[in-house]
Amino acid sequence: MNQVQILDKTFEEFISLDDIHNRLREIAQVLNTDFAEKQPLIVGVLNGSFRIVADLMHYLDINCEITFWRVKSYEGTTSTGNIQEIFSLVESVRGREVILVEDIIDTGNTLAYLYYKLMAQKPASITVMSLLKKPAAAQKNIPAHHVGFEISNKFVIGYGLDYQGFGRNLNGIYILKE
Ligand code: IMP
Ligand code: MG
Repeated sequence: MNQVQILDKTFEEFISLDDIHNRLREIAQVLNTDFAEKQPLIVGVLNGSFRIVADLMHYLDINCEITFWRVKSYEGTTSTGNIQEIFSLVESVRGREVILVEDIIDTGNTLAYLYYKLMAQKPASITVMSLLKKPAAAQKNIPAHHVGFEISNKFVIGYGLDYQGFGRNLNGIYILKE
């Protein structure tokens, strides 16, 4: 199906599940090389990244640990810039090689918030991976080392991303139809 209705909005298929998996496999291959002799801590940003982290791990063959951090900044289809920590990071990242996994970087506010909070704990390194990135993110100076797809400045859902909580189960990325 290439068009779906979620609440009051219509979305159409934009990135297929196969394309997502292929891109995640490519990124995992780079991480397998970069972290071959290390034991990184993967930090998934909830809720959006749960499927990304699961599929990324499918392709990782290094020794790694996983944990999650849950924050919220979006209301409906816009970024509020006001970050709420729903639950914070339990593990210490001091001295650790951290791989932060985001679903999408829009304004970059959430990433900046998470990045500086991690930095304060003095990790050995922070590697940022995001499945998607919108152009507005360029305003913020936080490096995203691995980006799956650069997309236009439109609202998207699916594969973990939501519109008012719905659409996370869509198998692919779907874009808002105007
Ligand atoms: P930022 O702080 O503006 O960069 O927004 C980051 C967070 O807002 C992401 O981690 C997502 O959870 C959410 N978000 C941003 N853009 C979208 C979108 O197009 N669809 C769904 N969620 C989004
Ligand atoms: Mg998110």
